[in-house]
Amino acid sequence: MYKTHSCGELRKEQKGQTVTLAGWVHRRRDHGGVAFIDLRDRFGLIQVVFNPDLSSEILKTVAEVRSEWVLQVKGVVQERPEGMENPKMPTGEIEVIAHEIIVLNPARALPFVLTDDDTLPDENTRLKYRYLDLRREKMRKNLELRHRTVKFIRDFLNNKGFLEVETPILFKTTPEGARDYLVPSRIHTGQFYALPQSPQQLKQLLMVAGMERYFQIARCFRDEDQRGDRQPEFTQLDLEMSFVQRDDVMALIEEMFTGMVASVTPEKRLLESPWPRLTYSEAMERFGKDNPDLRFGLELKDISDLARDSGFKVFDEAVSAGGHVRGINAKGCGSYTRKQIDELTSLVQEYGAKGLAYIALTDAGEVKSSFSKFIPADRLNAICSRLDGQKNDLLLFVADQSSVVYESLSRLRVKLGNDLSLVDPNVLAFCWIIDFPLVVWNAEGKRWDPSHHLFTSPLPEDIPLVDSDPGAARGAQYDLVLNNYEVGGGSIRIHDRKLQEKIFSLIGIAPEVAQERFGHMLEAFEFGTPPHGGIAPGIDRIVMLLAGEPNIREVIAFPKNQAARDVMAGAPSLVEPQQLKELHLEIKG
Ligand code: AMO
Ligand code: AMP
Repeated sequence: MYKTHSCGELRKEQKGQTVTLAGWVHRRRDHGGVAFIDLRDRFGLIQVVFNPDLSSEILKTVAEVRSEWVLQVKGVVQERPEGMENPKMPTGEIEVIAHEIIVLNPARALPFVLTDDDTLPDENTRLKYRYLDLRREKMRKNLELRHRTVKFIRDFLNNKGFLEVETPILFKTTPEGARDYLVPSRIHTGQFYALPQSPQQLKQLLMVAGMERYFQIARCFRDEDQRGDRQPEFTQLDLEMSFVQRDDVMALIEEMFTGMVASVTPEKRLLESPWPRLTYSEAMERFGKDNPDLRFGLELKDISDLARDSGFKVFDEAVSAGGHVRGINAKGCGSYTRKQIDELTSLVQEYGAKGLAYIALTDAGEVKSSFSKFIPADRLNAICSRLDGQKNDLLLFVADQSSVVYESLSRLRVKLGNDLSLVDPNVLAFCWIIDFPLVVWNAEGKRWDPSHHLFTSPLPEDIPLVDSDPGAARGAQYDLVLNNYEVGGGSIRIHDRKLQEKIFSLIGIAPEVAQERFGHMLEAFEFGTPPHGGIAPGIDRIVMLLAGEPNIREVIAFPKNQAARDVMAGAPSLVEPQQLKELHLEIKG
């Protein structure tokens, strides 16, 4: 070993001991012939002192040392002189008086300063030199948090009798609503493996195999548009259980995450326990989205009945075209200026709304509104009371088809929540969304699409609806939501071949295609498949929220950038013509 102790572990108790340390030069300062080097390793920082009475050879080396050089130093632990302690450093009461120094490796000047403040360069520079970016304390802490999170999960599930099983990465298409990453086969001309979008089929087959309780910290691959909470490859806690109903899976997850928060981020607090459960339609009605942030109110209110035949063309036309009018009470914003309201209007317009109608109730009791002149006073009053409008409130409305109303108002709600500082960053608001529609109508493709995935069972009482009224059937699905993000999705699965075939046909998969793509699943269902269900929480999103980071790249060691590129190694990249030939591939255009 190059060291007897880590830089972070020394305290007053080691006073007088001779120690050998190794690490990076975090900072060096010279004070009247005395050189101070803060030496850093993964475990912390310590001040090393080089006095002027050392040999000229040592002093020459010390003079050459620069930031981020890798050193080994030997010295004696000593209490810092009175008044020189640094209470901000865990090792701040002591220092190491060095008598030896070895340069293990010098370093070029770094492309950027390793600080945790806003002088950081743009993200692509950070990603190009990710191995340097990860030297920063904040990034190190994020990876440590991720480690502790996964460790807690492994221990918890192990104690509950779960078996961790690895499933293949080279597999067959496993649709989860994204495009597949394909891997061409060299030995089977023209054939491809697909990287799994999730281990969904394999975990179900493990239930057929009698494993009963499976989990895996599973890498998943999805070729889809990038966003702050999406990466082409990401990690799920993939989990499946036999002989369970949806409450069993939900209870297990709730127990696990409640314990995990207390263990890995004790500074955070759960908003509510047990976690609230909202049906999909309730979530949409109240928040306009199925992954609502429950840390604040500003709920949506339907005023379609009051907007019908109101005399305000915008409202009347939306309602008579089968749409809705909904509003939000922006509490305390009654004195917003025209400009501020215009900004909110631009926001909803980005999400398809044609405008944002408003009623401002001023402190003086005045009513200022973009549409009061069109509608009778009693209607206006009824609308105000529907939204519980008080003095100094600003009531904001969108009239349109439901999808537009929901999308735009849910964005507006989140913006107002942030602008009005209603969001407590130390609160974790977990909730469950249940009773999703089993299938949703795809108007473009003129077919039903699964709202979760192909293998989700209808709720037992809704199975007859699959034939009579598929759009009304609810799936045995549950989504796990945390602070404005969907952090997990799962369901009770179909374990009956006939029902599975019925779902395939409902969503427009012809029997031959079903046989070709999923024949192995259908066949397995004939050999004694237990009732089963599971879930897959997204590890990246959960750690992002625990760490309080704005995107999942901050909690992934080597993420792709927003254009799905690895800018450090330069991937994807061209390959040798010979490789293409071996794979029987030709690049056109
Ligand atoms: P689903 O597709 O809902 O379910 O995914 C589960 C969770 O995985 C995370 N996630 C992602 N995280 C980062 N980048 C992505 N591109 C990405 N896509 C998904 C989310 C999401 O909630 N097989 C089912 C689970 C099951 O039914 O058991 C599945 O994959 O947090
Ligand atoms: P206009 O009649 O287009 O001048 O609009 C009058 C008010 O209604 C303005 O405040 C617009 O922003 C608003 N508005 C227009 N279209 C809509 C809509 N679809 N939903 C809500 N408000 C709207």
